[in-house]
Amino acid sequence: MITNTELHKSGNVFPGMIISFTHVVDTLIFNSNNGVILQVQVLRDSVLRFKYGTGGKMEEDFSYAIDDDGNRGYNKLKVTEEEAYYEITTSKIICQIAKIDLRSRIFDIDGKIICEDELGFHYEESYEYGGEVVKMSKKAQPAESYYGLGDKPADNNMRGKRFELWGTDQYAFGKQTDPLYKNVPFYLGLHNKMSYGIFFDNTFRSYFDFAQERHHVTSFWAQGGVMDYYFIYGPDANSVVSGYTDLTGKPELPPLWALGFHQCKWSYYPESNVREVAQRFRDLKIPCDAIYLDIDYMDGFRCFTWDNEKFPNPTQMISDLREDGFKTIAIIDPGIKVDPDYSVYREAMEKDYFCKRADGPYMKGKVWPGECYFPDYTNPEVREWWAGLFKGLIADNGLAGIWNDMNEPAVMEVPNKTFPDDVRHDFDGHPCSHRKAHNIYGAQMAKATYEGVKKFIYPKRPFVITRSAYSGTQRYTSSWFGDNVATWEHLSIANIQAQRMALSGMSFAGSDIGGFAEQPTGELFARWIALGIFHPFCRVHSSGDHGDQEPWTFDENITDITRNFIELRYKLLPYLYTTFWQYAEEGTPMLKSLVLYDQEDPQTHYRNDEFIFGDKMLVCPVLEPNAKGRRMYIPKGEWYNFWSRETITGGKEEWVDADIDSIPLFVKAGSIIPRYPVMQYVGESKIEFLTLDVYYTLGSDKSVVYEDASDGYDYKKGRFSLRNLRFKGTKDQMTISQFKDGKYTTEYETLRFNFIGMPFEIDYVEVDNVRIPLEDLQYDRKTQTMLVNKEFSEFHVVGKK
Ligand code: GLC
Repeated sequence: MITNTELHKSGNVFPGMIISFTHVVDTLIFNSNNGVILQVQVLRDSVLRFKYGTGGKMEEDFSYAIDDDGNRGYNKLKVTEEEAYYEITTSKIICQIAKIDLRSRIFDIDGKIICEDELGFHYEESYEYGGEVVKMSKKAQPAESYYGLGDKPADNNMRGKRFELWGTDQYAFGKQTDPLYKNVPFYLGLHNKMSYGIFFDNTFRSYFDFAQERHHVTSFWAQGGVMDYYFIYGPDANSVVSGYTDLTGKPELPPLWALGFHQCKWSYYPESNVREVAQRFRDLKIPCDAIYLDIDYMDGFRCFTWDNEKFPNPTQMISDLREDGFKTIAIIDPGIKVDPDYSVYREAMEKDYFCKRADGPYMKGKVWPGECYFPDYTNPEVREWWAGLFKGLIADNGLAGIWNDMNEPAVMEVPNKTFPDDVRHDFDGHPCSHRKAHNIYGAQMAKATYEGVKKFIYPKRPFVITRSAYSGTQRYTSSWFGDNVATWEHLSIANIQAQRMALSGMSFAGSDIGGFAEQPTGELFARWIALGIFHPFCRVHSSGDHGDQEPWTFDENITDITRNFIELRYKLLPYLYTTFWQYAEEGTPMLKSLVLYDQEDPQTHYRNDEFIFGDKMLVCPVLEPNAKGRRMYIPKGEWYNFWSRETITGGKEEWVDADIDSIPLFVKAGSIIPRYPVMQYVGESKIEFLTLDVYYTLGSDKSVVYEDASDGYDYKKGRFSLRNLRFKGTKDQMTISQFKDGKYTTEYETLRFNFIGMPFEIDYVEVDNVRIPLEDLQYDRKTQTMLVNKEFSEFHVVGKK
């Protein structure tokens, strides 16, 4: 155990005693006798912000992450002074600030400790760079678990590990590789059945140590900037994630097609190859909504240009693909080729938009085009210019979305893989070096891209995907996990990364299905597709240097399996879209690690493989070759095996059969799951009816179905259709009630109910108090389906006595 004196000797400074205190509206300021200031701001009853100043000064507020539209306000705020501390009480938490050294302790309203400073805030002068290394240490509570931090490939529970945030291009990364592409300084702590979150809003290179160096201490620190963190109380983990997502921003709804299947490779060219691949999907009847153009579509890798030989008429090609139901998405990197004959380069030079080194020369680095300069996306004027560049690709050529890559930023042939520290940035009018701007560079590029795509695709919705990100980037873009490898271990990493990203507020994410580097076997590809269809972003991508990686690359059996899984994704689109809507509305994670699903069950705290898709389906990928199934943990509750329809009671480990054409998949009893007919792409044909799979339970449960025009912004004006469904089951009856909201008229008139696990034979049915003959509902006894008008309010199914 390091003592305070030892730390003092090592150059750390600790806050002194409180000498004055002010309280204005939601903000409390504590001044200590050695110039350390603590500002505690009450944002919500369960959200506190802690910001520290040193040398008697508080830095001005500026954050790229915090969303101004987030919910603010509290019901209660009481501040009292005790002998040893000040006490701040809201309706959810009590926070004590020690007079002697500014250390904080946070309790729930029953007085149970949630989170407490160990040494608390301390800092060290940075002799090399100026400024300070800012540090925070908290006690790791007994049996406390930790989750979050974005795209880390390590196991879900981070206790006992240390991580770094410094966005890095990590080709063929592994389970232990750290740091990775994304920078998400948010973690969730769980102990004593209570969850809370910490968001450390600092863009410098930073570290999180979860009781690794010292077993009872969790700490985080950054190489510069300010100790500025948010504490978010649950007590349930899902509320922590939604609280964090609310703070850093929720996304708008993507166009529905973006939740379809995407096919990518480095690279499809020339034009005839793109057309062939697209045609093959249609010929083989494998649903697909999007096809990607990687860097080879450009003229010598110059962004915003086309290689006229490979793509003589891109507008025509994109339009033909669109006719056939394909959206085309193209890659745009940050590196701009140094070439005086290239208009983007010339314009940026004329306008002085490129990043420069400390002493004045341009930041020059090698990427795909050779020597490049890099726009400073932290300058709002540069972002606006960048956004404007998309007119050609989007408005003129007709691309439906943009893929941002290499934006960590990645630089080739240099040992640190990125810009040197001294590169200058505008940081929205707060000039700084790359040390501060590195971790948000990619995020600002993605934001500028999003604004451009949004402007030129209007009135349709934009689609952007990025490799690097900082907290808050979920407002603008989806993301993928970068350059993984076609191995079984990477299938398991992809599973963890998708869960971790969802827990870190960035649900709209997925892996390169099948693996980017190296060649998957057909079996690995099939198992990866089976998992990938449950990830919010679903795209096959590969480096292309090992051959092809399309659904038909392997044998016919694998093609059929792939088709079946992709079809399942298309069937479940209304469920997935509803899940996205819940994420966009409430910040609810679209995938839930088991710990998010049931934190009270300690069995869930160290699980990695199983997760909940939306809030009603349990998925567990098969992660080994030659398997006929696997053991998995079924969380508490009643579940239906999706395939066999057998029921199982959870709270235990089970062997579950799942041959190569299957995946362990369960549905919570009491759920109503919406389903569309399979289409080859979103909007291919009219939807005749919405199927509702009703999974009987003895008891009641709620389900929702959200629909709208699938694109455009009318939903923001109330043109959506929300079905709040309530299921109630007894021994011999079922009641389904519906409360509808929204002004959107769905194109179908009928709901097709499909009863699963119904324990009785139907005697009669009543819809809105009127008995309807079963023939009128086209009741099919064998499939247990019937058709009901979509406007019903209450629907009784009564069994024979
Ligand atoms: C990077 C990306 C990869 C892309 C390649 C070529 O490696 O991560 O997805 O295909 O660059 O653009």
